[in-house]
Amino acid sequence: MYAPYWIIGIEYKDRFVGKKSRYTYKINNIVFHLLGKDFNASVLKILSNEEIENIKVLDDFDRIPYIAANLNSSIRLSTLLRNIQEKICNLIDAEAASVLLYKEDHLEFLSTVGKASGKIESIPVPMESIAGTIFLKEKTLVFNDITKAPHFKGVDKASKFKTENIVGAPIYSGDKKVGVLEILNKKDGFSQKDAEIIEKFAKLIGKKLLSTWELEKMSNLFKSIILSFVTMIDKRDKYTHTHSNNVAKISRLIGEKMGLSENILEQLEYSAILHDVGKIGIPDSILLKQGNLTDEEYKIIQSHTIIGAEILSKIRYTNKDIISGALEHHERLDGSGYPCGKKDISLFGRIIAIVDVYDALTAKRPYKEPWPKEKVISILKKDSEKGKFDKKIVKILEEIAP
Ligand SMILES: [Fe+2]
Repeated sequence: MYAPYWIIGIEYKDRFVGKKSRYTYKINNIVFHLLGKDFNASVLKILSNEEIENIKVLDDFDRIPYIAANLNSSIRLSTLLRNIQEKICNLIDAEAASVLLYKEDHLEFLSTVGKASGKIESIPVPMESIAGTIFLKEKTLVFNDITKAPHFKGVDKASKFKTENIVGAPIYSGDKKVGVLEILNKKDGFSQKDAEIIEKFAKLIGKKLLSTWELEKMSNLFKSIILSFVTMIDKRDKYTHTHSNNVAKISRLIGEKMGLSENILEQLEYSAILHDVGKIGIPDSILLKQGNLTDEEYKIIQSHTIIGAEILSKIRYTNKDIISGALEHHERLDGSGYPCGKKDISLFGRIIAIVDVYDALTAKRPYKEPWPKEKVISILKKDSEKGKFDKKIVKILEEIAP
């Protein structure tokens, strides 16, 4: 019986099959060596109850199609690149992996910028480089002595990385070559088997890389259009023009810390960007009024939550989670919020409510200086003690707050 593809080694008593990994999990005196950080502990539990002596592990070469197929679950380019890097580097025991995609007359090196930002930075790489040679010759090449290779130092400089040795292979989408996969820095140099593994892997990932790259570009374009629309609303109000963007970024960071899936994170980001969209329906005479509001005017201001939910419900691809951010970001868990005074608030509503207050108080407004982060967190903590905000979310905000 073979273990799942993500188990690369099994250590039990004097027996060791497969190879070692930097990621391990011990259960019943059996040490499982794993391909990456995410694994299924219940599968390991079942395996540990089997006759462990009879369980084999796949050969690395046979493991590659499974790894490539598993990449399909990555929706964002940053996660896809991270997954490629983590899995293949652990398998080959190398330090880093780079993906370069071909664009008109040069290759674009893709790297993720900022730990959680998910933003992709493209660095143009000339065709006279190692990657360019691999692409043009359509050959898998190993350079264990980097001084003898046409190494392009621009990427090292930009990514603050020192390349020692490289194995690279052309990436294909169907029969068409679309880029280059490079694996960098293996302690004692890359073997022929490493090169064959990389070649096989690079042949399988092109389609997914291209479609994710295209989707990311479309999604960024779509987000920037929405953002410029809500920025106009923010500017109309007394907010800084970055309010909706800030709320979206921080809400996403909180969601990441909570371990939400990529799909849910994407929805949370949209919900947060659009949380105040209903202000479009509030007249200037009330929204911009100096001095105290009458009860009637205050009710109208409060209705921006309902108007926002109505606007969003008319968009075809929204769902009730995205709408809940607009509808519930002024609700409080003790029922003291608006528009409904409800206590049972959705996850998006609970997150955005906290971040909305945090950004409003830490931002400079025409009538006030920014409050220090510590002061705002302490206010939020006190309010969460009173039962207004979700304590767990306030705690996460304290950890990640910019
Ligand atoms: Fe609001």
